[in-house]
Amino acid sequence: MMRVDPLGISESEALLTLRNVSNTYITQAYGIFGRKHKKPVVDQVDLTLAPGELFGLVGESGCGKTSLGRCILGLIDYEGDIIIDGLRQDKRRHRELARKVQAVFQDPAGSLNPAKYIGWILEEPLRIHRIGTKEERIQKVDQVLQLVGLDPSYKTRKVHELSGGQKQRVCIGCALMLDPKLIIADEAISSLDVSVGAQILNLFQDLHQRLGLALVFISHNLNVVYYLCDRIAVMYSGQIVELGTAEEIYSAPAHPYTRALLDAIPELNCEIPSSAADKPYVELVLPVQFPLEELPGCRFAGRCPWKGDACGHTPQELVALPGNPPHLVRCQRLGRINA
Ligand SMILES: Nc1ncnc2c1ncn2[C@@H]1O[C@H](COP(=O)(O)OP(=O)(O)O)[C@@H](O)[C@H]1O
Ligand SMILES: [Mg+2]
Repeated sequence: MMRVDPLGISESEALLTLRNVSNTYITQAYGIFGRKHKKPVVDQVDLTLAPGELFGLVGESGCGKTSLGRCILGLIDYEGDIIIDGLRQDKRRHRELARKVQAVFQDPAGSLNPAKYIGWILEEPLRIHRIGTKEERIQKVDQVLQLVGLDPSYKTRKVHELSGGQKQRVCIGCALMLDPKLIIADEAISSLDVSVGAQILNLFQDLHQRLGLALVFISHNLNVVYYLCDRIAVMYSGQIVELGTAEEIYSAPAHPYTRALLDAIPELNCEIPSSAADKPYVELVLPVQFPLEELPGCRFAGRCPWKGDACGHTPQELVALPGNPPHLVRCQRLGRINA
């Protein structure tokens, strides 16, 4: 099968390469005689990220974003290949690769030890990886505190003294301690107030500019991803259904599901040219089909207002739309949903 790399980045230049990445959870019904089920969640994802790229992964809750992020972090098993900076990620490697890829999660409080001082918490990754002398480690903690916008006095504070936004800054600080090239931020602002979340988004932007840090920013909110990221992948039911620059995704969505996500942002309807009144409005009234439908064709077919007879049966690959910038879509209509 031909693989399309929208940016034309070769694997040797890429910071992150995903080749045919799939992941399946084994779930067991209750009781010792309960049948085991295979639950496919991530389905053959291909992706290439350039160093320093701000990349967004968006889709409804349950579509597999967190699972994909956990594969990249080496926290769960997967099939296929994940190459980070030339090294293959897997469960045994993830300690070693922690110096290249780090994570920031939704709930900052849950990932910080309430019994310890912030200085101690920040120093922990360096201790675990046996990096530097005590003085060097403290110096690094000071440096990182400054990077995330907290003054040195925070070193001697504890978690309960911090606001939600400050806690998330500490988590981002922890992620930065090992100088990673890539951060996977999974719903990193979803538990914060809007204005605090906006400050954290600006912090990510700032870190990207100052450190050349690459980001996979995972969110269910297309607006947020559009604000921060240069390129966006839209995920539906375990698959990438659309991939393109943030501008293209926002102003010329090619997949009906992306249109639906945009139409679901009420305050923006008037500004999106594709949502003009005479065009079919896509409403996501039906629930997401999970576990993955065994549909051989398009998984969105059951909810799609443009569905044709063949859509449910014919497998659809990600195809590049004509023109520039690169824009991929997994839909038989090839973007003809805006006319
Ligand atoms: N550890 C697990 N065992 C079994 N199923 C899981 C597990 N984690 C997630 N899932 C299921 O996998 C699907 C995708 O979940 P997730 O990756 O968390 O999606 P998202 O982050 O997009 O909301 C969901 O149906 C979820 O219930
Ligand atoms: Mg999630």
